[in-house]
Amino acid sequence: MVFRHFFDLAALKANNGSTTNATRHFRSRCATQQFRQFRLAPFIVLSIRNLSKTFSSAGEPVHVLRGVDLDLRHGERVALTGESGSGKSTLLHLIAGLDAADGGTIRLEEIEVTRLSDAGRASLRRDRIGLVFQQFNLIPSLSVADNLAFQARIAGRHDAAWTKELVERLGLGSLLKRYPEQISGGQQQRVAIGRALATKPSLLLADEPTGNLDETTAEDVLALTRDLVARTGCGFLMVTHSLHLAATLDRHLTLHAGRIA
Ligand SMILES: Nc1ncnc2c1ncn2[C@@H]1O[C@H](COP(=O)(O)OP(=O)(O)O)[C@@H](O)[C@H]1O
Ligand SMILES: [Mg+2]
Repeated sequence: MVFRHFFDLAALKANNGSTTNATRHFRSRCATQQFRQFRLAPFIVLSIRNLSKTFSSAGEPVHVLRGVDLDLRHGERVALTGESGSGKSTLLHLIAGLDAADGGTIRLEEIEVTRLSDAGRASLRRDRIGLVFQQFNLIPSLSVADNLAFQARIAGRHDAAWTKELVERLGLGSLLKRYPEQISGGQQQRVAIGRALATKPSLLLADEPTGNLDETTAEDVLALTRDLVARTGCGFLMVTHSLHLAATLDRHLTLHAGRIA
């Protein structure tokens, strides 16, 4: 799933010559969106209704999501916890359009994600969603500076002033020429967060982003993320195992028996 995201980005870049209607539509929104990004707007960025997803395991259906409802506002920072296997990653994958739902609706701003084709979902992900995973997924052959700008360049949304601000706020100034293997896990995750926010997404999704970090580093990285989300006004949905970290966000939701409590 995760690698598919970065594969899709590369494919979208390769397809730049044959711009689809969906892509044209997303691009035409850029001006409006850039205006919107830097104020705290009390609008719903993500609205999910009655979302369901069933997998098949050894011929038996596994009903993972059984009617998930969720609303998230611009600038709102929400934690999602739940037992292992409760469907947290599945939910994030559906929101990001990495997989298709079986029923229900997901709306990201004015776009109904659940009605988009694979290509439409890839465009949406590129232009409006930032993704951060437990494994940092930086590109080993690219410097920190190039990793940071990677998604924004592909999306045609590179903004030098915003990238410079991200570098400063994330404390990456002295690391720009290094490669991922030459920096610590906490530093790598700061680069991954910068990469995800460099496009000024409408929504930042993070799946256990601090899972590979020690407690102090995890708190530092999350504090930086909270501040940056407040700065950009995007929505932030973070899956975590840590009740302590979950309590530092605006809201804490739990996924249990296929629904959000
Ligand atoms: N692609 C898949 N095919 C079959 N079963 C899957 C697939 N993805 C997830 N599952 C199953 O769905 C359930 C929820 O998985 P997941 O969303 O990864 O849970 P969590 O992130 O909460 O630990 C698990 O039982 C898992 O085995
Ligand atoms: Mg998971």
